[in-house]
Amino acid sequence: KQANPRSLIENARRGGYAVGAYNMHNEETTEALVWAAERSNSPIFLQVGRAIIPHMGVRRAFEMTKRIAEKSNADYVIHLDHGSWDEVLEAIKLGFSSVMYDGAHLPFEENIATTRKIVEIAHAFGIPVEAELGKIPDVGQSVNWEDYYTDVEEARRFVAETGIDYLAISVGIVHGVVPGIPLEPINIQRIKDIKAATGIPLVLHGASGLTQQEVDAARAAGVHKFNADTDLRHAFRAGFEAVWAKGDRQLEEAMAEGRTRMIDATIDKMKSYGCIGKS
Ligand code: G3H
Ligand code: 13P
Ligand code: ZN
Ligand code: NA
Repeated sequence: KQANPRSLIENARRGGYAVGAYNMHNEETTEALVWAAERSNSPIFLQVGRAIIPHMGVRRAFEMTKRIAEKSNADYVIHLDHGSWDEVLEAIKLGFSSVMYDGAHLPFEENIATTRKIVEIAHAFGIPVEAELGKIPDVGQSVNWEDYYTDVEEARRFVAETGIDYLAISVGIVHGVVPGIPLEPINIQRIKDIKAATGIPLVLHGASGLTQQEVDAARAAGVHKFNADTDLRHAFRAGFEAVWAKGDRQLEEAMAEGRTRMIDATIDKMKSYGCIGKS
């Protein structure tokens, strides 16, 4: 059933674990996420994100996710990931129960002002808001990390002045994983400092490719929502390609194998975040 996003995160905070948030991409990948949650009794954030929106629009993605989730026994939240101003407003109208507004590309003062307006609107509908401070690069991009990291003093002001519910931070993580490209180790001390300055639950994006040691350290430092996409997409692809490699097959057979592998990969993430059996 639809869960209250604040309660999922608050329960995770109190229980010392984290909840996973995963992006849906089509019917089969949405089923994989929902069925993984159902099978392992794990709470789940189902995210409508950057890849799906240009492909089918916020409304169709939301309706597909809702239809599949409603048929299950899973405790789920439908969440807008990396939303623009217009997308957040559309999501609120459609009935999303949690939204992320991503103003990380804006100058700091503008990010504060815009995020604060989003929070006023969303909170009027009882919807919690995730926002991003610092910038999260894509894998393979070469960056000067100090320009990308979330600044601790800025985080303190940002949270105090916007009233957001959870903060997405940049601490060495990247969006994506490419075999052969080593990932930067994440900066756990920076997570602790941001947590101490803000006091609100933190969100770690780009969680694909993290080691279990990093996940555990991030969780202990105050991260209670991990966003993972690429590792699950790779699992789906591996299943699809395993069928395809046998010669010409029906798409359905390949998609079913992709879905099976993605369920297993999602349950692995849930184990890693410690949220199995928490719903
Ligand atoms: O394992 C410890 C908890 O995750 C601490 O989190 O600082 O949000 O209470 P908290
Ligand atoms: P990854 O693709 O690196 O797992 O990142 C997912 C994400 O942050 C979605 O917002
Ligand atoms: Zn992200
Ligand atoms: Na990543």
